[in-house]
Amino acid sequence: MGVHLFLVMVCFMVAFAIVKNGYTHKAHVDGSFVQRNGTQFILNGKPHYVNGFNAYWLMTMAADTPNTRSKVCTTLVQASQLGLNVARTWAFNDGGDYKALQVSPASYEENVFQGLDFLISEAGKHGVQLILSLVNNWKNFGGKSKYVEWARQRGENIISEDDFFTHPVVKQYYKNHVKTMLTRKNTINGLLYKDDPTIFAWELINQPRYKNDTSGKSIQNWVSEMAAYVKSIDSNHLLEIGLEGFYGETTSQKLFNPNSTQVGTDFISNNQIPEIDFATIHIYPDQWLPGSDETTENAFVEKWIEGHIEDSNNVLGKPLIVAEFAKSSKSPGYSIYKRDNYFKKIYEAISTSATSGGSCAGGIFWQLMPQGLDRYGDGYEVIFENSPSTIEIIKQQSIKMSSIKS
Ligand SMILES: *[C@@H]1O[C@H](CO)[C@@H](O)[C@H](O)[C@H]1NC(C)=O
Ligand SMILES: *[C@@H]1O[C@H](CO)[C@@H](O)[C@H](O)[C@H]1NC(C)=O
Ligand SMILES: *[C@@H]1O[C@H](CO)[C@@H](O)[C@H](O)[C@H]1NC(C)=O
Repeated sequence: MGVHLFLVMVCFMVAFAIVKNGYTHKAHVDGSFVQRNGTQFILNGKPHYVNGFNAYWLMTMAADTPNTRSKVCTTLVQASQLGLNVARTWAFNDGGDYKALQVSPASYEENVFQGLDFLISEAGKHGVQLILSLVNNWKNFGGKSKYVEWARQRGENIISEDDFFTHPVVKQYYKNHVKTMLTRKNTINGLLYKDDPTIFAWELINQPRYKNDTSGKSIQNWVSEMAAYVKSIDSNHLLEIGLEGFYGETTSQKLFNPNSTQVGTDFISNNQIPEIDFATIHIYPDQWLPGSDETTENAFVEKWIEGHIEDSNNVLGKPLIVAEFAKSSKSPGYSIYKRDNYFKKIYEAISTSATSGGSCAGGIFWQLMPQGLDRYGDGYEVIFENSPSTIEIIKQQSIKMSSIKS
């Protein structure tokens, strides 16, 4: 307890220092839940827009030593200074050696959970809401391969990691995690997670892919089942899937997919599931169209955003968030100037839709990172102190999005 109080104070002192430098903070997250009405988010009866950031390591850092916990505080203070109102992050760390949250099925590390408690309670104080993702498609932080490994160790017959989406024992493990998360009582603010307005939305799975089932049936069934399960426990919060935006093979829009790839998801039918409140896309032309020139990449990005906005407007009738976009410093010909132009272009597409009453309600760049967290760097990080021009563009977008009237 003594240690805990000390850590809370560190966060407060960081915030205080910045206030002294003349910045103003956003108010706390207030007591209302964000809802949706057709293609718009609604907060307290008014349309609500998002300008946000990804920071996948927040829980891990909050669960660690006072020194790393202060990185969480710094990030929240910097975010708040930039008017960023949403952070998307991982509410999972399955198995593994370093700061696992779920050590084995239904067995949780309390210390790490208290890191998440801390993050949620501090984010609320800084006016930052959270999109919490519940599992990873990829091996980082455990993910679907860890879930099927657990089932295999129990003697279940597992063929591939994609049995995650279909095997009854594995599906039950996932549901248990969902229930544990949603009914967790925060040891700091005393709220059950399902009753905490600091949480903007739950995300079922980061970037689901099941390439062996290109009919899309497996993921469609899994999303239907899990979305209904989440809503049966928590009807307060919004829910999204975690999609990158790929279209299924039966849609005419499949031609938009980079390399015409099928990954087993379908932006249309997956998002039409009634319990899904809003759609998401990610944008990685450097990974999805490797070796293409800039003109090709730019044309792709434009079409990717516009196509999904149109489908969200006309087919889904639900809001859309551009939940990951980034420019890697490792990509050929990279410069901060190019990154800035890339961010501007994406922000422009988002605010053009939002200001004209369209479905695109916000963007969440990948990723904001404080100084000194180098081992979490992936080339895409925007470090506040090192990136004044990018930081200014992000800030201007916050101002633009928060001043949109209905
Ligand atoms: C919800 O949308 C409908 C139709 O666009 C509109 O008439 C109504 O005012 C909206 N409600 C809120 C709370 O914004
Ligand atoms: C696809 O299916 C084959 C045969 O069942 C399996 O060996 C392979 O691991 C699967 N691939 C993936 C990515 O799951
Ligand atoms: C497109 O093809 C390249 C090269 O084969 C591959 O690296 C990339 O992942 C593919 N894109 C998608 C979205 O699958």
